[in-house]
Amino acid sequence: MRELMIRGALAAAILLPLASHAAAPTVVDDAALGDQTQGHNWLGYGRTHHEQRFSPLDQVNAGNVGKLGVAWSLDLPEDRSLTATPLVVDGVMYFNGSYARTRAVDAKTGKILWEHDPKVFETAEDRARILWDWNRGVAYWKGMVYVATPDGRLIALDAKSGQEVWAAQTFEPSKPLFISGAPRVFRDKVLIGNGGTEWGAARGFVTAYDAATGKQAWRFWTVPGNPADGFENKAMEMAAKTWTGEWWKFGGGGTVWHGMTYDPEFNRVYIGTGNGSPWNQKMRSPGGGDNLFLCSIVALDADTGEYVWHYQTVPGETWDYNSNMDIVLADLVIEDKPVKALMHAPKNGYFYVIDRSTGKLVSAKPFGKVDWATGIDMTTGRPIEREGARYEDGEEIVWPGPFGTHNWPAMSFNQDTGLVYIPSIEMAGVYNDKYTKPQAWKSPDFKFDPGVDFLRADGPADWGSSSLRAWDPVQQKLVWEVPTPGVWNAGTLTTKGGLVFQGRADGKLVAYAADTGKVLWDISLGLGISAPAVTYAIDGTQYIAQLVGWGGSMTATGGNMAAQHGWSYGAQPRRLVVFALDGKASLPKMPAPVFAKPLHDAEFVVFEELAERGSFVWKESCGMCHGPAGTAGGFAPDLRASAVMLDKKALHQVVFDGALRARGMPNFKDVSEGDLEAVQHFIRREAHKQQLNTP
Ligand code: HEC
Repeated sequence: MRELMIRGALAAAILLPLASHAAAPTVVDDAALGDQTQGHNWLGYGRTHHEQRFSPLDQVNAGNVGKLGVAWSLDLPEDRSLTATPLVVDGVMYFNGSYARTRAVDAKTGKILWEHDPKVFETAEDRARILWDWNRGVAYWKGMVYVATPDGRLIALDAKSGQEVWAAQTFEPSKPLFISGAPRVFRDKVLIGNGGTEWGAARGFVTAYDAATGKQAWRFWTVPGNPADGFENKAMEMAAKTWTGEWWKFGGGGTVWHGMTYDPEFNRVYIGTGNGSPWNQKMRSPGGGDNLFLCSIVALDADTGEYVWHYQTVPGETWDYNSNMDIVLADLVIEDKPVKALMHAPKNGYFYVIDRSTGKLVSAKPFGKVDWATGIDMTTGRPIEREGARYEDGEEIVWPGPFGTHNWPAMSFNQDTGLVYIPSIEMAGVYNDKYTKPQAWKSPDFKFDPGVDFLRADGPADWGSSSLRAWDPVQQKLVWEVPTPGVWNAGTLTTKGGLVFQGRADGKLVAYAADTGKVLWDISLGLGISAPAVTYAIDGTQYIAQLVGWGGSMTATGGNMAAQHGWSYGAQPRRLVVFALDGKASLPKMPAPVFAKPLHDAEFVVFEELAERGSFVWKESCGMCHGPAGTAGGFAPDLRASAVMLDKKALHQVVFDGALRARGMPNFKDVSEGDLEAVQHFIRREAHKQQLNTP
């Protein structure tokens, strides 16, 4: 009997074509996710558990990349922001688009196999007003796809059918939190955190769920709660000693909205923690203190969620310098010694190499323009802050600003060149808390208020610049740098073929030589790119896949810096484009860039006092989607150019009755008619300003 079965299996194997995806299906588990040598699949957010985004595929290489052409494409007319890293498992691609809609497509042809829509607006209630639509990716484990929705659900889908297997609500629905990040899976557990901190009191945490059932396995809080309620664990007791005042009333912050990396060697998970809630430490922890574990890498036992070690990049954070950026694992040799390294380039502009066996800092150097600190003291591991950086007198220009020197667009590490490819931003921030007395500040309730003035005014398009930087993590030095357009460029992919791929704000996908930064190939895709490219192989052909869809916080709150490219709301369709050598498919034409033209209404008399009041309503309720001072970056319509803003009845239908709610425009219960009228005056004032500026 046994022999017969084996014979049968052999016979079947011989009859099968010699195609990689027709071989035994890949069991996506820790062994598969830890295997850096296989290249046909892209199994996790950062490809493997190590999050290097380095593919061993080399069919497409520095010698032939010029022959790259479109193999197939898929238009996604319902989608807007596309920021996801697609996964590829045995010839099927899984990716999510706007509002966590997930799709499975045949990765060779682009044929849609299934779609899943979590119908975010049906469950979001008041949270609709803080929901951006982008989502950075799904996770895959043993035949299931995991997607986290903006309104806070973690959903397990059957990879074959797209049917929901289980769903868990990951935070209290009454809280002003959201999810934009990708879950990670390891040891039969799915890990997810959330974003928040700008719209109300938020206390950060991550939760691990049983991958098969959705039952909660463990939760780790990143900042202490009210000591009077007792501490969850020793780590929280330790952390509480570094806080002052009544921080728990403001939540404290430290949300884990992006970087999380599982380390198969130590069976630990490293989480990157966020900024304070609020950003401004004068309100949050008025007597100072390090405020653990804000802006830190925290190592946790993967099975229990227990604290192991931490390294804090920004003690006493007050600039939104979160440490949520990606966490990359690599074996490096530094001063002739092997180092189990963890690499991290957070917003604060320093590149950190940490020995992950101990959590000890190995080295840290600035990789861009930084002036909040003059360096990192290697004996204490602490930054040396400059005087004035904490806007002690109420206002200060500080490098970098809240967008950081590096944001979530992923860096990649090439094992051959030993270089890390970082999408870098060069931009200062204006920190101003004069408008409110820090002592009298209260946490907002579903209103944007980080404790510093933001979104009422806009800067010029060239307030920020950007570049792709190739960084040597061993020498801690820049090896090459290529300027990139605007400020908001996508994450990178690097390959054994000696290449670095990066999508850019101007809509180009570019392949660079990994060793020199020389441009070897590029193509215009007609719309700003914000998602990182991935690569995979089917039947002996290597493919490069790129989601094309302007997205991320810069596209909502970047103002002129984002608007300069002409990716106006609704102007260009979103798509997935896949390339291969000698690809001959053609792409449907993209509409040209569109720039908002503010409307002029000669009859509308702007009352300055109302406009000023409107600027505060704007900052609290509208600016996070429609842009600073009314300059939209593409995520939502530019209201200076909207006829609805000039029509009271239509405006009430949109803002109070929720006429466009299903399309992402929330309805507001706590904005009064007077507030809305003030916003009209504010928008007309800003529209008029632009008219004065345009020749
Ligand atoms: C969470 C993001 C978000 C917030 C916050 C938000 N909006 Fe919107 N808004 C949108 C999106 C997205 C659309 C486009 C919907 C569509 O496709 O029709 C929109 C559309 C509109 C429109 C219609 C524009 C037109 O010409 O079609 C108006 C008017 C508007 N918003 C006003 C406001 C005002 C006033 C506020 C603040 C009180 C506000 N919005 C807050 C996302 C937002």
